[in-house]
Amino acid sequence: MSENRLFLPVVLGTNRKNRQSENVARWVFGKMNGREEIETRLFDVRDFDLPRDDYGQEIKDDFPEWRDAVIRADGLVIVTPEYNHGYPGVLKSVLDLLLKEYIHKPVAFVGVSAQVWGGTRVIEACLPMVRELGLVSTFTDLNFPRVQTLFDENGKLLDAAYEKRAEGFLDELVWMSRALRWGRENLPSKYHQP
Ligand SMILES: Cc1cc2nc3c(=O)[nH]c(=O)nc-3n(C[C@H](O)[C@H](O)[C@H](O)COP(=O)(O)O)c2cc1C
Repeated sequence: MSENRLFLPVVLGTNRKNRQSENVARWVFGKMNGREEIETRLFDVRDFDLPRDDYGQEIKDDFPEWRDAVIRADGLVIVTPEYNHGYPGVLKSVLDLLLKEYIHKPVAFVGVSAQVWGGTRVIEACLPMVRELGLVSTFTDLNFPRVQTLFDENGKLLDAAYEKRAEGFLDELVWMSRALRWGRENLPSKYHQP
């Protein structure tokens, strides 16, 4: 069974002090760890020592753990806050470190916001960007509106309704991950070795 496990890293997409998205990312990461078909790892954009004067694939070898994780990954989960209806620049900087490593892999979005939309607008804003990376988005997002009311001071999620939502979110990501892994392994493409 172990070779059938899916490796699905989670990216926490903001380095902001007092970020609420950290509670969300840790909760989603815990849910993924609880599923036997998933192996995961939490990447925090705060841990990337990005240079001030360089960008993109040219510097990917300075971030070998991220590079190797994405090469091995069957898909990604991106936890992103909504900043002026867009995504944090640091998330884009981290994603831009790689390109061909993402191709034909699914990405599932978790949106986080202070207002009522739960990051729906930032997820929409992410779609053209991840498409250019070759990632394939799932259609079952997880949204955390009014995130400042959802967790207690210990990071415990206060709304039990998220349990079922998270299961549906992960079920679809697992399906997409298996389907696309089968495709990468069995269907020739100029973008990867079958
Ligand atoms: C620069 C900036 C822009 C923001 N823009 C929005 C926004 O467009 N819509 C919204 O609902 N919340 C907005 N917020 C609030 C965040 O969604 C809120 O801080 C939430 O907790 C998620 O971000 P966090 O992980 O940084 O805490 C903004 C916050 C910052 C710092």
